[in-house]
Amino acid sequence: MITSWPTLAQEVFACERCRLCQTRTNVVLGEGNLHASLMLIGEGPGQQEDLTGRPFVGAAGQLLDKMLAAIGLTRDQVYICNIVKCRPPHNRVPEADERAACMAYLRQQVALVRPKVIVCLGSTPARELLGEEVRITRDRGVWHLRKGVWFMPTFHPAALLRDEDKKRPAWMDFQAIRDKLKELGVDNA
Ligand code: URA
Repeated sequence: MITSWPTLAQEVFACERCRLCQTRTNVVLGEGNLHASLMLIGEGPGQQEDLTGRPFVGAAGQLLDKMLAAIGLTRDQVYICNIVKCRPPHNRVPEADERAACMAYLRQQVALVRPKVIVCLGSTPARELLGEEVRITRDRGVWHLRKGVWFMPTFHPAALLRDEDKKRPAWMDFQAIRDKLKELGVDNA
């Protein structure tokens, strides 16, 4: 059953489905245009996100904003969220049971937003949504059509901050995302 945003928010903000609730400061549900054509999904909140309750506000988020701007988009035109809504301690990769516990929320977000294009930022969302066999360096930039939605795995912006060589392929991916939105007749995501 499709929920409503207030019901989903109420449920997520009170969530105790996994151990991450014990160490979080804030739940980070997601933000942006609730009817966006483009949804971007990261791994999980980092320190700044945990402190503010907002996704992608730290250094990686600032780079993501620049990449969106480079294809003519602002944060309020797209919807941004994560696989897990609570920060894993020390920014470790979320465990399988933590990801599984949070998946129902992501499914509801997708059902409410109804994006045409979903960008998986890094290997955690790419594997969770497209299959465990995905290797981000090998498989980034490839489109997958699932249930009428176009999925693209690309590098996580934090990876671009660590390795300059990833910036060029990531830029190609963002250009492909812009082209896909255009092809789908989307004016402002
Ligand atoms: N990295 C993520 O994957 N998500 C955020 O919200 C911030 C950093």
